[in-house]
Amino acid sequence: MSNHEQHETAHQPVQRKEMSRRQFLSYTLGGTTAFMMGGAVLPMVRFAVDPLLVKKGEGTYVKVVEESKITNEPQDFKFKIHQVDGWYVSDPELSAWISKDANGNIFALSPVCKHLGCTIAWNTKGKSEYDCPCHDARYTKDGKNLAVAPKPLDEYEVKLENGFVYLGPVKPNTRTS
Ligand code: FES
Repeated sequence: MSNHEQHETAHQPVQRKEMSRRQFLSYTLGGTTAFMMGGAVLPMVRFAVDPLLVKKGEGTYVKVVEESKITNEPQDFKFKIHQVDGWYVSDPELSAWISKDANGNIFALSPVCKHLGCTIAWNTKGKSEYDCPCHDARYTKDGKNLAVAPKPLDEYEVKLENGFVYLGPVKPNTRTS
């Protein structure tokens, strides 16, 4: 490059790249649209994902009654459980027939009849059995099905701690097999 050309280049005016009106409008509208879409979409994403992030309740055992109150004769005890099902939170009341067996072990039976789901009760006919008022199913103290019902009464998981009986999930009867 000659000295003359160098001189010319050095003194050329700086070319500024100006934004056209069209570019300005598309940037502005694009940004605004993205902002509004984010505002609409993010809550939907959060709604879909949030139940997965919710911590489950601590443990599945519920304190029901003092151990000292349990006798050989079955007694009906009520208790509440805390349930979180997605967005639905509830505290339904359940009940259990709790007693001691011949070895002094505490066990708890579900009151739900294994025929069609009515609620059984202990010794309503003076026979030391569980009876169902709906179709006359009968069960032994261990929950063994004697008539009508096809299966034994379910059992609760039992945990004894600091003098209290805690009940956990319902499981198939382990005392009659
Ligand atoms: S529901 Fe219990 S006997 Fe039918």
